[in-house]
Amino acid sequence: MSTLKTTLTGYAGYRGREGHWAFLLHRITGLGVVLFLTIHIVDIAFVYFQPALFLDALALYQTTLFGIGEIALIFCVFFHGVNGLRIAYFDMFKPGLWSIEMQRKTTRTTLIIAIILWLPAAVWMVRNILLHNYGIVLFGG
Ligand code: HEM
Ligand code: HEM
Repeated sequence: MSTLKTTLTGYAGYRGREGHWAFLLHRITGLGVVLFLTIHIVDIAFVYFQPALFLDALALYQTTLFGIGEIALIFCVFFHGVNGLRIAYFDMFKPGLWSIEMQRKTTRTTLIIAIILWLPAAVWMVRNILLHNYGIVLFGG
C-alpha cells in the first residue's frame, strides 16, 4: 500500500512537463487499451457462446456514453502507438540524443501527429452518434 502511495504521489508531484506527461499518458493509454481489449475479447466471444448477449452488447455500444468512450479509445490507440514508436526510435537508433529539450520537442510532435490521425475518426464517430442517437444530421445525411 505504501509503495502505491509513493508511486501515485510521485506521478502527481513530479514536475517534468512534457516528458512527464508523455510517460503518464503512455501508461494510462496502454492500460486503458489492455482493459478495453480484455472486455472486447469477452464480447466477441459472445457471438459464438451467447448470441443474445452479443446483441445486448451491441445495443450498449450504440449508447452515447459508450460512443464517447470509443472516441477516447481511438485517441488512446493512436497516442500510445505514435509515442511508442518515438520511444523505440530513440532507444534503438538515437540513444545519444535523449535530452530534456528533445523529450519536450518530440512529445509535442507526437501529440500533434496523434491528434491529426485521430481527428477524422473522431469527427466521423461524433457524426454517427448525433445521427443515430439524436437524429441530427451534421453532414452526409
Ligand atoms: C470501437 C472500436 C472497435 C470495434 C467497434 C471493434 C469491433 C470488432 C468486431 C465486430 C470484431 C469481430 C470481427 C470478426 O470476427 O469478424 C472484432 C474483432 C477483434 N478486435 Fe475489435 N473492435 C474495436 C477496437 C479494437 C481494438 C482497439 C483492438 C486492439 C487493441 C481490437 C482487437 C480485436 C481483435 C484482436 C479481434 C479478433 C480478430 C479476429 O477474430 O480475427 N479491436 N472487433
Ligand atoms: C503501434 C503499437 C504499439 C507500440 C509501438 C507500442 C509501444 C510501446 C512501448 C515502446 C512501450 C514501453 C514504454 C517505455 O518503457 O517507456 C509500451 C508499453 C506498454 N504498452 Fe504498448 N505499444 C503498442 C501497442 C500496445 C497495445 C495494443 C497495448 C494494449 C493492448 C499496449 C499496452 C502497453 C502497456 C500496458 C505498456 C506498459 C506501460 C507502462 O509501463 O507505463 N501497447 N508500448
